[in-house]
Amino acid sequence: HRHLTGIAGLQPHEITFLLDEAEQWVEANRNRAKSDRRLDGVTQINAFFENSTRTLLSFEIAGKRLGADVVNMTVAASSVKKGETLIDTAVTLNAMRADVIVIRHMASGAVGLIADKVDCPVLNAGDGAHEHPTQALLDALTIRRRRGNIQGQRVVICGDILHSRVARSNILALTALAADVRVVAPTTLMPPAIEAMHVTPFTDFDAALEGADVVMMLRLQNERMSGAYIPSTREYHRRYGLTPERLARAQPDALVMHPGPMNRGVEITSSVADLPGRSAITEQVEMGVAVRMACLDVLTRRSRGVEGWA
Ligand code: CP
Repeated sequence: HRHLTGIAGLQPHEITFLLDEAEQWVEANRNRAKSDRRLDGVTQINAFFENSTRTLLSFEIAGKRLGADVVNMTVAASSVKKGETLIDTAVTLNAMRADVIVIRHMASGAVGLIADKVDCPVLNAGDGAHEHPTQALLDALTIRRRRGNIQGQRVVICGDILHSRVARSNILALTALAADVRVVAPTTLMPPAIEAMHVTPFTDFDAALEGADVVMMLRLQNERMSGAYIPSTREYHRRYGLTPERLARAQPDALVMHPGPMNRGVEITSSVADLPGRSAITEQVEMGVAVRMACLDVLTRRSRGVEGWA
């Protein structure tokens, strides 16, 4: 693979390979080690056409920990605001001889489009409602470390499944690694024919939580809803909010996850989000740096003359 545009197309052993690669950076990151400069001389451009806290900063930190020269292009300060097309922006970044480009865009498929136009590897940092592959990898790494395994784990993903690239990439990664995935949403926020993705759909959150090993909560993505159905936050919280009472239906040691940004009091109560020993939310952020170090390293191996994918 030259690019990482999605989890789709990755074989289970390739996902596991990336998780194993990320694992080696976890301890080094805890010590803020900068001793490995394998990306010395690599120019990494982070082109973010949509807001981000976690993904942008962790890609920047990941590149810098490995010695890359990291340049951030944020849309508010770029010529995109003057009407430049996506393709012209991509060709411009390419002409500057970037060695790897990390892109977030509000349109599904935009990252794949750019990948076809540039000479260097492209990493998808989230494109519309399509995919967010490094999020799925960091979630899988968090589950593997905390639960010991992914195979056979009952993972309940609850929220705006229809508009969520996080849900889509997680479903692809977790089912590829043989987890038992349940998805929960109001009917209007559930993609049609979701069973084809080898998951079990539920509209009743309480029923879905029975026996859950992992409960992954998602935000309502109002920015991607075109007015068809925007539930009131009070109604949504009553039916789909993760409260301590609801969590009690899951396994006693079930892990609580959320990719962020959280809307406390809507999809999750603060007491659950901050539950010691059970909430893995800050650990997810921590794993994000390790996963992005691994992806930047693996994707640039060929251009650095190192053997690439497994
Ligand atoms: N989880 C995630 O993608 O967060 P950001 O939007 O802050 O990058």
